[in-house]
Amino acid sequence: MCGIVGYIGTDEAFPLIIQSLEKLEYRGYDSAGVALLGSDIKVVKVVGGIDKLKNKILEGRVGIGHTRWATHGGVSERNAHPHLSCDGEIAVVHNGIIENWEELKEELRNHKFVSETDTEVVAHFLEERLGKGLSMEEALKELKSRLKGTYALVILKKGDDRIYALKKDSPLVLGILESGFMLASDIYAFSDKTNKAIFFEDGEHAIIRRNEYRFFDSENRVVEKRIENFSWSSGKEEIGNFEHYMLKEIHEEPNAVRRLLLSLRTDQREKLEALKKLMETKRKVMFVASGSSYFASLLGVYFLHRAGIESQTLIASEFHNYERVNGDTLVIPISQSGETMDVLDAVKLSKRKGAEIVSIVNVPHSSIQRESRFSLEIKAGQEVCVAATKTFINQVVLLMELASLFGYRAELDTLPQEIEHVIKSNEKTIRKLARRLKDKNDIYIIGRGVTYPVAREIALKLKEIAYIHAEGMMGGELKHGTLALIEEGVPVISLIPSKDDEVMSNVIEVESRGAMSIRISPESKEFKIPQTNSGKFAVFSVVLGQLLAYYIAKERGLPIDKPRNLAKSVTVK
Ligand code: AGP
Repeated sequence: MCGIVGYIGTDEAFPLIIQSLEKLEYRGYDSAGVALLGSDIKVVKVVGGIDKLKNKILEGRVGIGHTRWATHGGVSERNAHPHLSCDGEIAVVHNGIIENWEELKEELRNHKFVSETDTEVVAHFLEERLGKGLSMEEALKELKSRLKGTYALVILKKGDDRIYALKKDSPLVLGILESGFMLASDIYAFSDKTNKAIFFEDGEHAIIRRNEYRFFDSENRVVEKRIENFSWSSGKEEIGNFEHYMLKEIHEEPNAVRRLLLSLRTDQREKLEALKKLMETKRKVMFVASGSSYFASLLGVYFLHRAGIESQTLIASEFHNYERVNGDTLVIPISQSGETMDVLDAVKLSKRKGAEIVSIVNVPHSSIQRESRFSLEIKAGQEVCVAATKTFINQVVLLMELASLFGYRAELDTLPQEIEHVIKSNEKTIRKLARRLKDKNDIYIIGRGVTYPVAREIALKLKEIAYIHAEGMMGGELKHGTLALIEEGVPVISLIPSKDDEVMSNVIEVESRGAMSIRISPESKEFKIPQTNSGKFAVFSVVLGQLLAYYIAKERGLPIDKPRNLAKSVTVK
């Protein structure tokens, strides 16, 4: 994962790099570092967040920065980027994984390596080639031909007033600023400074000077690139009066849904209709997604089946093991970030096999969007907390609206107010429940049909935010094994859309074994949930589950917005 930044221009680079790294921190927050070009290359590194870098001011107008999510090598200062060559004259930041780093390191055994990372070989490789008399341009071409794996690399060289950048399978974009240029992992890094950017394609590299840039294609030929105008959050998301972004983002859900519905009925209407048409003409419709987005896709499959449309979904990381796509398949990747590597790989594989791609993403111009024939956007705005909340809700709403074009009765017009009401009227109850659950080791959530994916999503929230082992499962599967774990006091949350739902039999099963039974239902006296269709009940249940995970995590004093070991954008396999 990791976030990378490079700046070259007429302003002081350090504060600009720090601001952008702060915006990219959701990509990884194990350690961070900056290198600035002066008469020498000066480097500062810290273990932990960008905050700790702020007082280590460096001067210069050219620099690179990095916020890390550790892959190769533990979390330590020496493994933090930027990495340097032996002579300290080359500095490198990297997002991705160099797969043949051990082979390259073996070739460079006369060099002194100080970190355990895969990245460091890049600095030594360039140093070695420069030592043999190659120019930086030549050395870069050779580097490109030798590197295996995935990379977005941004590189500085002492005495050279340029930044070098190359990309393969990890995102990289060049922002066109008034004061110069900024390279970054995504547009959010500089969306407060410009709305103009150039997106790198795989295999491309670029050489950036203070007042000009040159791009080269995978064959190292000069290539003309289009400057794209983008529109995305124009500032750093303000946390306002909320203690955490997660709570803020849950409270934003009503407005996010309002914005999405409006867009689907106006500016995105044509695309939605076009997607419907493609679904009708293709023999197979297949969603692909990871994590929360996968649970949203399961709901999509459910809504579409209700409307008589056959579709299926695959977890992206297993896609290659199970897919049977061909030219008559429509593949619909769903991804908040639009950068998840497993999803991107599935998209590329599907394209090679002739499938059509129409994606559902939140972040515009993301890699998955750019690989698609066209893309629908969920319009949730930037989500800062690692846990998906408003973006999950908007994915589900988009899928409900899509299914409603085929006849599914979604009744979405009142949904924003209803979510607002559900949050307001249940937050206190959820806080109380969180206190009862905070010391539990396991929580089971059961659902059937439309509430099964919801049970999975709530369990994921409890695991990633509250660090509680949780299992979201089909009620019908309880008796096939898991029931053995249900004993006195074990919490079981049941999602019950109506009093005669099949899941009621499971509720009785667990209650008769002494479970701490929590019934989420419009019939419940404890929770205030509007009587409505089962699709909207699913949405309300997710909102309650999100609040529950949040308040348990708060009771437990956990780092809610940046849970351990995770990052928001998972750009490695
Ligand atoms: C959600 O809370 C998780 N952080 C995670 O499961 C996420 O949904 C998953 O990594 C997929 O991300 P994407 O939607 O950006 O592809």
